[in-house]
Amino acid sequence: MDLKSISVFFALMLWQSADSEMLTSVDPPTNLQVIDPGYLGPLRMCWQAPTSLANKKLCVRYMLSYCNVNSTNCKRVITKQLEYTDGFNFNEEIIVKVRTLVKDQCKSAMELQSDWVEIIYRPPLEGHADSKVKDLQCIVYNLEYMECLWQDGMAVPQTINYTLYYWHEDLEQTMQCNNYIKHHGRTVGCHFQSDDLIEFTDFNICINGSLEMEPVRPAYFTLQLQDLVKAAAPAEVKLTLSSADTISIQWEPPAGKIKPHCLKYELQFRGKSSDWEAKVISEGVTSTTLNVTTNTIYCVHVRAAVNMFCADDSFWSDWSSVHCLTVRSEGGDNVTIQLNVAKLVVLIALMSITLILTLSTIYCWIRWKRLIAKKKLNRLLNDNIKDIKKCIHIDY
Ligand SMILES: *[C@@H]1O[C@H](CO)[C@@H](O)[C@H](O)[C@H]1NC(C)=O
Ligand SMILES: *[C@@H]1O[C@H](CO)[C@@H](O)[C@H](O)[C@H]1NC(C)=O
Ligand SMILES: *[C@@H]1O[C@H](CO)[C@@H](O)[C@H](O)[C@H]1NC(C)=O
Ligand SMILES: *[C@@H]1O[C@H](CO)[C@@H](O)[C@H](O)[C@H]1NC(C)=O
Ligand SMILES: *[C@@H]1O[C@H](CO)[C@@H](O)[C@H](O)[C@H]1NC(C)=O
Repeated sequence: MDLKSISVFFALMLWQSADSEMLTSVDPPTNLQVIDPGYLGPLRMCWQAPTSLANKKLCVRYMLSYCNVNSTNCKRVITKQLEYTDGFNFNEEIIVKVRTLVKDQCKSAMELQSDWVEIIYRPPLEGHADSKVKDLQCIVYNLEYMECLWQDGMAVPQTINYTLYYWHEDLEQTMQCNNYIKHHGRTVGCHFQSDDLIEFTDFNICINGSLEMEPVRPAYFTLQLQDLVKAAAPAEVKLTLSSADTISIQWEPPAGKIKPHCLKYELQFRGKSSDWEAKVISEGVTSTTLNVTTNTIYCVHVRAAVNMFCADDSFWSDWSSVHCLTVRSEGGDNVTIQLNVAKLVVLIALMSITLILTLSTIYCWIRWKRLIAKKKLNRLLNDNIKDIKKCIHIDY
């Protein structure tokens, strides 16, 4: 006797002692159905209790198992209800199985299981397989808007026009994209407004279309938008020389809806004519220092991404603009001293020039005044001599 038959034997003994009725087997549920509410992913699975269990005071539960037909890891759920809803991948056929589990009391370890009943659900998969779009790439920019771009199917003429439908739990019905991204008049992507950006729940997408009266094979995608965020570049990167051989660097988190504690950073720096080197920045920190050598230009840029505490995945932001600082010889203090000496020299030179100019102006003015005075005197003397001569002439 194997273990299973032993447990069945004990179960029977228990049942016989608790209830005079003998329960040797249990029937599977009936009328298993899979219902598509039209939300591009969620399916409602429902069934009915086996009639043989009606009016019996037993602990009845159901075990569900469901997955795509060729998948090896099916989900298993045990429930007392007669229905269950979950999200599915509609790109392949789906298999749903259910069986009855019965105990005489819920606390008891002895349990009878029925056979499985199963159903295969075929999502709408019309059209030729090669007409289906190839990968969809979606990016949520700084939690402000989302852009999704797709690649044409392998065997489609240039006249194909794809259409995108989407659904998430805040929508009462499936919506069509209302802002297509176009290339040469054909739809190649969709732009989603911030109202549609819902995180931590399935965001279902179906891309289908039609091609000369023939349907295009729909492609289904289920996204988690919090894992597709690309932050804006960090702002206001500031470099200061904090001592003779240390630069301190500070920056601001990108403005927007991403919480600062959800961001991580990466910094790259390079000295004169060397390659970019990465510097690891601890989580949540927005400053760091660099050990430097003198007489070199140091340049730095920073980028940001959502960290592992807030999402499973993310994209790096673009790099901030490059900021540079020249580290002069002799280090920080000496640089300022040299600067002050230079200023002093310039100041003294300026003052001397001003003084010389002023003195020479005064000198010239005085010379000129003297000249004028001298000329006046000469004229006066000349006139007087003439008058005297006249007088003398008359006297003669
Ligand atoms: C599932 O596997 C079978 C063979 O194992 C194969 O013929 C069939 O095409 C597969 N279906 C899908 C959707 O990949
Ligand atoms: C694609 O659809 C757009 C808008 O619906 C339309 O303006 C355009 O002519 C279509 N292109 C083709 C090639 O059918
Ligand atoms: C594309 O999919 C949507 C959503 O499932 C559906 O309403 C629409 O009829 C489909 N269009 C075509 C041409 O199959
Ligand atoms: C920078 O210099 C300080 C002190 O001189 C030293 O403790 C630190 O390890 C240095 N850091 C790096 C990255 O070289
Ligand atoms: C400034 O330069 C002198 C040598 O010219 C050096 O001895 C001194 O340590 C320097 N000061 C600093 C702060 O680097």
